[in-house]
Amino acid sequence: MTAPAAAPRAQLIRELRPGPVLLGSLAVALVVMALCLWAGDGRPAPAAPGLPDEGLGTEWALPVLRTLADLAGILTVGLLLAGGLLVPAREGVLRGPRLRWTRAARWSALVWAGAVLVEVVLTLSNVLATPVPGVLDPALLWSFVRDIEIGRSLLVQAVLALVVGVAAYAVRTTTGAALSCLLALAALLPPTLSSHSGTSPDHTVAVSALAVHVLALSLWCGGLAALVLLGTTDRRPLAVAVARFSPLAVWTAVAVAASGILSAWVRLSGAGDLLTTSYGRLVLLKVLLLAVIAAIGWWHRRETVPKLAADPSRLLFVRVAAVEVLVMAATVGVAVALSRTPPPVSGAVPVSSLTPAQVIIGFPMPPEVTLANLFWGQARADALWLLVCLAMLGLYLAGVRSVHRSGGRWPWGRTASWVLGTALLAICTLSGVATYGHVLFSVHMTQHMVLSMVAPIFLVLAAPITLALDTLPRDSGRVGPREWLERFVASRSVRVLTHPLTASGLFLAGFYLIYLTPVFPWLMSSHWGHIAMNAGFLLVGVVFYWVMIGIDPGPRRPPFMARFVIMVIVMALHSFFAVVMMSTTSVVAEAFYRSLQRPYALDLLADQHVGAMIGWGSGDIPMIIVMGAMFVQWVRADEGEARRSDRAQEEAARTGEGTDELADYNAYLAQLAKRGRRPQ
Ligand code: HEM
Repeated sequence: MTAPAAAPRAQLIRELRPGPVLLGSLAVALVVMALCLWAGDGRPAPAAPGLPDEGLGTEWALPVLRTLADLAGILTVGLLLAGGLLVPAREGVLRGPRLRWTRAARWSALVWAGAVLVEVVLTLSNVLATPVPGVLDPALLWSFVRDIEIGRSLLVQAVLALVVGVAAYAVRTTTGAALSCLLALAALLPPTLSSHSGTSPDHTVAVSALAVHVLALSLWCGGLAALVLLGTTDRRPLAVAVARFSPLAVWTAVAVAASGILSAWVRLSGAGDLLTTSYGRLVLLKVLLLAVIAAIGWWHRRETVPKLAADPSRLLFVRVAAVEVLVMAATVGVAVALSRTPPPVSGAVPVSSLTPAQVIIGFPMPPEVTLANLFWGQARADALWLLVCLAMLGLYLAGVRSVHRSGGRWPWGRTASWVLGTALLAICTLSGVATYGHVLFSVHMTQHMVLSMVAPIFLVLAAPITLALDTLPRDSGRVGPREWLERFVASRSVRVLTHPLTASGLFLAGFYLIYLTPVFPWLMSSHWGHIAMNAGFLLVGVVFYWVMIGIDPGPRRPPFMARFVIMVIVMALHSFFAVVMMSTTSVVAEAFYRSLQRPYALDLLADQHVGAMIGWGSGDIPMIIVMGAMFVQWVRADEGEARRSDRAQEEAARTGEGTDELADYNAYLAQLAKRGRRPQ
């Protein structure tokens, strides 16, 4: 049999197929992971003689499954990102490559769920140091996933991955695909709670940093992998998809690096560990691989992306991106080895030696409150909130710059308002206020007041949606970011959410439902619960003030008088809540605050009453600001109305067309007078 003639080079490249790209990535990740584990302290080893041992099979299978789960999860996020946002389309219904890649996500999601379910069994075998057959007892497995944090987080991840798989199979619209992508991102998070972050001395910083890390890298690596797969099958939409992905790639790369360094920082005792410990050396390897990926990314921006835009049929981008995906897969392999290598700084001290605060809120009890401690002395580098604040500031200022660049004007007052709103958010979530907000009700209530009653006023008056619509380009007949925003603002869900009753109800629920029900202690003692509570305070405040004094386009707002009345009623009900808290004799979340064993402000009720007074007093501040803003808007609206009718008058008088309102009204009065009736 004669050897086939060498196919022309283009032909060979054209043979790049999704299968080899995916299997190649998996193989690279697994090999690199195994090598890193083998070469470092994380190497699986049999237990000392006489000690229970789950066996090397379990020890090696665990990182293999974690690698598969990480890669499948990242790919699922990427495919849904491509189906929901990156691949251009003229309408919101999923068709062509969008439909194909959204549907493909069901397979990666099923692989993901399957890998995590097997990981549950192996983790139990590892925890109990019992070979797998010994843990295949349904009751044992059930109590593991019900009572043990790592078991619970893996089960939650597996269930969420399954739901994502079903959603990827069922959704019919781009919005559906985009929402499934969000769900897939959420499904990546549970294990971050129980990895090394769970045992690090500063649990909350470690968990948030790893969460930002995993979210950013899955958008970055997953998005790029999806573009490579798209490029191997259908290159027509590739140029637009790559153009949409580019800015996201830059921002997520920065977020991956920053959160990775923060994650490493809380686990290393110093720079020396980078060379002297195998954990540190793996971190260095990751930094190196990130530099390689960034260099390829830079070359993309310089070479392959412009060439792709010029000639979408060119394969250069796909080929280089495929190499980049392989390097990313290798980095995931290093990361899994890293997560199985004992870090130099491990809080893995017996729980008995942890302080109650460390066990409950994840970091040591801060010292007595002082003004310095309240602002910078006890600041917290919470990566999640840091990312949110930086993104808010960066995107807004980039928008203002682009308006000015295109010759437009953007009122400086709005920019100042946005910066002030973001600064207040940063003080509440990153300074000592965030730390003491965990242990003192009075500081928590201050945080709540600023997050839901003060900061949103400035964010809303900054008109962020107007700025976005002023800067986002119209996507020439396709549905792009600008169209998504317009559809979102005009959507039924926004109409329902911004109905004055809904907005006021949610705003007040933030007080009555949280503090007068058992929800509060649960939210206070759970890391994600605490983040969700603060985010909720901010969002309900933004929605409420958007209805009251928003200047952005949106669903019809109630007339000014009605808004005045709503504002007065809501503020009265807020003050009533504060009075209830001031007069109550029972301590809210008493068990939680007692269990912290705080060595100062021992009188919990007194601290609660201080919090209630702050709540009561601070209600007036927004009231005054909002009433002032509403009054100014009312006057301006009236002046605008008067100017419009004057202009219409003048126009009518000048052209003799249209209606002369004054003349019409006099004619109406004359008619009535003729019939002897009084004007309506
Ligand atoms: C500056 C570069 C980076 C640093 C310093 C860094 C550092 C870290 C650290 C300290 C962890 C926590 C490991 C543990 O649980 O102890 C981590 C987790 C992780 N990193 Fe990175 N990283 C970097 C870049 C990347 C890149 C570029 C990727 C992917 C392309 C990546 C993928 C991951 C993954 C998937 C995990 C979670 C592993 C698991 O628990 O399953 N990292 N990283």
